[in-house]
Amino acid sequence: MCGIVGYVGTDAAKPFLIEGLKRLEYRGYDSAGFALYDPKSKDFIIRRSVGHVEALVEATHGMGDHERLGIAHTRWATHGVPSEVNAHPHRAGGLVLVHNGIIENHAQIKNQLIAEGVSFSSQTDTEVFVRLIEKHCLRLALAQKLVFLEATPLQKRDIALHALQRAASEVEGHYAVIFLIQGIEDCIFGLQAGAPLVLGQCKSGGLVASDLQAMLSHTSEVSFVPVSTIFEVSKGLSHFYDVKTLEEKTVKLEKIEWSSEKVAKDGFDHFMLKEIFQQPSVIADTLSGRMPLSELGSFVWDNPVAHEALWKNVKKVYLIACGTAYHSAMVAKYYFEKWAKLSVEVDIASEFRYRNPVFEVGTIVGVISQSGETADTLAALRLANEKGLTTFSVCNVPGSTIMRESNFQYSTKAGPEIGVASTKAFTAQLTVLTALAYDVAHLRGLSPNSKDSDEGFRSLARLPQDIESVLAHADEFQAVGASLENKKTILFIGRGTMYPIALEGALKLKEITYRHAEGYAAGELKHGPIALVDKDLAAVVMAPPDELHAKTLSNLEEIRSRGAFIVGIGEDKDTEFRKLCNSYIALPKTTWTTAPVLYVIPTQLISYGLARKLGCSIDKPRNLAKSVTVE
Ligand code: M6R
Repeated sequence: MCGIVGYVGTDAAKPFLIEGLKRLEYRGYDSAGFALYDPKSKDFIIRRSVGHVEALVEATHGMGDHERLGIAHTRWATHGVPSEVNAHPHRAGGLVLVHNGIIENHAQIKNQLIAEGVSFSSQTDTEVFVRLIEKHCLRLALAQKLVFLEATPLQKRDIALHALQRAASEVEGHYAVIFLIQGIEDCIFGLQAGAPLVLGQCKSGGLVASDLQAMLSHTSEVSFVPVSTIFEVSKGLSHFYDVKTLEEKTVKLEKIEWSSEKVAKDGFDHFMLKEIFQQPSVIADTLSGRMPLSELGSFVWDNPVAHEALWKNVKKVYLIACGTAYHSAMVAKYYFEKWAKLSVEVDIASEFRYRNPVFEVGTIVGVISQSGETADTLAALRLANEKGLTTFSVCNVPGSTIMRESNFQYSTKAGPEIGVASTKAFTAQLTVLTALAYDVAHLRGLSPNSKDSDEGFRSLARLPQDIESVLAHADEFQAVGASLENKKTILFIGRGTMYPIALEGALKLKEITYRHAEGYAAGELKHGPIALVDKDLAAVVMAPPDELHAKTLSNLEEIRSRGAFIVGIGEDKDTEFRKLCNSYIALPKTTWTTAPVLYVIPTQLISYGLARKLGCSIDKPRNLAKSVTVE
């Protein structure tokens, strides 16, 4: 959460900062700001404004066009309301700083600083941190009989790095900061203490950002700053130091395959719609080079030997994630249990990390995450690593912390996902997990029931085409969504793998329409939620023709008879189901293997259609951010 960007070089910094902020806006969009260093006045130019980055652009039109050093920030408020005074950057004497993450013991440190005579202008934990660094700068300078602001650039740099080290040892939390020092015209300083930062060099200078996407149009070679690392970046040079010892360390440069063209709307009204329509190619890319030639072969993963070793003696699998990624884990449980006969426990990361799970010998932990930076998922992964368990990740962002810290990686190939509501990353997660469960069954000498296996395998291979044929009706699905405008509650129900898909449908609808939606296992309705049903409620019922079909239709009858408006999602030829519905979304023939991917797509478009009708902010829904890097 929150986006950080910095530029130092020979070109004007502001265009780099604004472009970076726009690309990072999905991380937070309640306020934005920048600080530029003006070499003439030898001081900072700081501008901040409430609202989207565009508001900052308008408020600063025609100014700050020549300065060549700057840092910027787009905020998702944690401490203090979204306001100009709480927006970043925050200044303390000769330092100006932007921050992502949380300083957990900020209140205690603030009280201590106040007692020492320091005054504060904002409610943020960020200001506490920059004032703490400043305090140490002043003290360290004094110890050397210097006045910090009057010291030479070299002395200031040395003092500031030691001051940062001291401040870091006093604060608790997971965070990242970058800052400028008054009088140093060619360098950005920073610390990665548990929130991601990436450094890169373009022709004209050095770049730093909290996310790859801010620099993809300038360079594809980057260094991911390791946790507990202080760094300095200038044109052509980056140096990294251990936060505890200040000893220099080497961080490798990595080539990134994503390109900046992918981070554009390409004629679609919203990133979310573009991403929904990218699903055929995303699934094709995710399967490409991995599918065996026949159902008897093995899937091809990046490191086949390590993959086989990983699954050899596994007795139990934990799948851990948050939000939409958690729903993909729920679907995967059905496949691992049925095909690979493996016991699977699925956990919400924020619960798992604070429980005391009992791990048997042979337990493997998989974490699933689009961003690879979600704080709770990362903490769950670290917990599993600390317990000595083998871990793997299913992740979309190359080089992300979760990818780097897991023992084995199964990448999804969805490309940059900008819409806050996850769509293509979810179907890519489902695809990888389905293929993985299928493959693990083979590795364990268990061929899924031969008829199922054969049909399932072929349906996985033709999934991109099947998605195309579903998307051919996208306008109709959006119209169904728009028709729910006057419904107060929208219930999504299903059984088996359609239960997590119902949860996902409801989550998407809540996120982008702000309408009350619930996802339920159809068999649970009678245990409470049926009390909600009246004519103001719509139920989206998902019932592919599987072994639970008849049971789902019985549940449908129960709510239909109580006045609910029924939207059915089922097979084209399913006339029995169709006649029970007020509105029916007809899908092509699917298999148990691919139904979750194909059935979730209409729910994405129902939510999109309703959000459009209601005039909601689709790509940047209120109160949300794409990458949840605080717990
Ligand atoms: O990046 P992650 O997959 O770890 O993110 C997990 C959730 O925050 C995310 O799926 C969230 O629920 C989405 N906004 C859903 O659309």
